[in-house]
Amino acid sequence: MFEALKPHVLEVLRDSALSVTDRLQEVCNLLKNEIPAYDWVGFYFRNGDLEELKLGPYAGDPTDHTVIPFGKGICGQVALSNQNFVVPDVAAQDNYIACSIHVKAEIVVPIFVQGVNIGQLDIDSHTPDPFSDKDERFLEFVCEEVAHIL
Ligand code: SME
Repeated sequence: MFEALKPHVLEVLRDSALSVTDRLQEVCNLLKNEIPAYDWVGFYFRNGDLEELKLGPYAGDPTDHTVIPFGKGICGQVALSNQNFVVPDVAAQDNYIACSIHVKAEIVVPIFVQGVNIGQLDIDSHTPDPFSDKDERFLEFVCEEVAHIL
């Protein structure tokens, strides 16, 4: 599934007829529609020089969490750690910001531009413990390709 999706991701990201924002939106739509366990797919980006993340394009239910301070929740922790964060069971996390009662698991992968963590790709799942190394490698691929157009 992931290998088959990669060419589609590249096609969307290289579509110069679309704005960068529209390309990121299309990537969210693609991942949410094609990967059964991905119920919410969105980008958060550092808000200028502020120590906070701001919601970018996303696919799935609207969230109240459009701004997340560094350090808060899974996303805010990834802004500081520069590491992937895989959460098989969100109920087991103390520092977690709930977006929906349906969410059981989450994965957040940072995006680096010239070595700087400028944002992240965040996936929520309604399925418990759905993410494997394959998800991490695929999402790292997506984030590296996204970094090329930012
Ligand atoms: N659950 C995230 C907040 C963002 S929503 O999942 C869209 C967190 O704990 O950082």
